[in-house]
Amino acid sequence: MHTSTTAVFPRRQRTTLIAVASHPAARPATLAWTACLAIASMFTPVTSTANAAPAQVHPKRDWALADIPPQHGRIVLVTGGTSGIGFESAKALAAAGASVVIAARNSRRGADAIAEIRRATPGADVRFEVLDLGDLASVRGFGQRLQRKLPRLDVLINNAGLMEPPTRGVSVDGFEIQFAVNYLGHVALTSAVLPLLRNADAPRVVTLSSIAARGGALHFNDLQFETGYDASEAYSQSKLACLMFALELQRRSDAEGWGITSIASHPGVSRTDLLVHHAGASGFIRRRLAFLFQPSAQGALPTLYAATAATARGGAYYGPTRLMETRGPVGIARVPDAARNTGNAAHLWTVSESLLGAPFAAATR
Ligand SMILES: NC(=O)c1ccc[n+]([C@@H]2O[C@H](COP(=O)([O-])OP(=O)(O)OC[C@H]3O[C@@H](n4cnc5c(N)ncnc54)[C@H](OP(=O)(O)O)[C@@H]3O)[C@@H](O)[C@H]2O)c1
Repeated sequence: MHTSTTAVFPRRQRTTLIAVASHPAARPATLAWTACLAIASMFTPVTSTANAAPAQVHPKRDWALADIPPQHGRIVLVTGGTSGIGFESAKALAAAGASVVIAARNSRRGADAIAEIRRATPGADVRFEVLDLGDLASVRGFGQRLQRKLPRLDVLINNAGLMEPPTRGVSVDGFEIQFAVNYLGHVALTSAVLPLLRNADAPRVVTLSSIAARGGALHFNDLQFETGYDASEAYSQSKLACLMFALELQRRSDAEGWGITSIASHPGVSRTDLLVHHAGASGFIRRRLAFLFQPSAQGALPTLYAATAATARGGAYYGPTRLMETRGPVGIARVPDAARNTGNAAHLWTVSESLLGAPFAAATR
């Protein structure tokens, strides 16, 4: 039995219960309840101000694609840019004039994504690179390739991910697959491209978390879920780790003088392959409720805000602001208590370096 202390639906936090119920990992009854709340939310604007640090500037109300500043001359890397939130982010950034590199596993989907972006923006500067975040050799090789091809990297968007494979999968390197792809691969990638980021004037790293992080915990005694695999808990852990990484990266950058602005974002509950292409009963229910999820283009806005807005701040977390952050306009997202534990964040950093077999930023030392 897994000895997790995770409370997926903590009773003491009604807001968390509702938010987690909104998460697609929830059971049919909670999903039906969520459907009612989602409909109500469409008529009830709720601006989240919870946990807003005093120094933070709230995004302007209804910040939208038209608010993206010109991106000409900026080089952006989007992992998982062939689908869903990553695709919408790549498309919007290319439309704003950025030079966009999409990195994912499947070159055919890469070609399709490029064709669609160029249909929307003729002459868009976008290319595809093969990257498997579940294979650390692929990540390192990709990092070296980019160093040969690019003069710098202005924005890295750590977006790619997978959610809740029903049985425990492992990466090429033997790590639990969600931990490996969603979290550890992105840590390795950020480390590998750090020299390129440091060549940029004002580099940003945006890392995607999820409202699922609220129900998550770091299982330091069994990060790989070798015993008692629970797909939902493993996903939550991976997204909590992503959020903690984003916050810790800002602290480390400040301490080491890397000059990076590190920001976290989440897309609420958005209609993408991640949610609807699931097998079994949960996939069936999600597909039936998919009309309630916000469009993926709306879900990409917090990430786009983090990547481009002059008012976005390092160490901040952005997400939708309605129905417990499951949908709606961009605002400051609530950082779960677990993600505020700086001791655990530092420990996770050290453990990750040891799993990766090299200190973070080794290439810059
Ligand atoms: N949709 C939501 O409501 C929601 C909610 C909370 C958080 N999120 C987060 O948002 C991010 C994007 O999710 P999405 O909903 O847009 O999912 P999606 O539509 O399924 O897209 C996932 C992307 O990740 C890529 N990918 C998967 N495994 C990979 C690997 N091993 N190496 C490299 N790329 C890989 C996929 O491309 P290939 O298969 O071609 O590699 C695809 O481009 C994820 O981090 C997810 O956790 C989404």
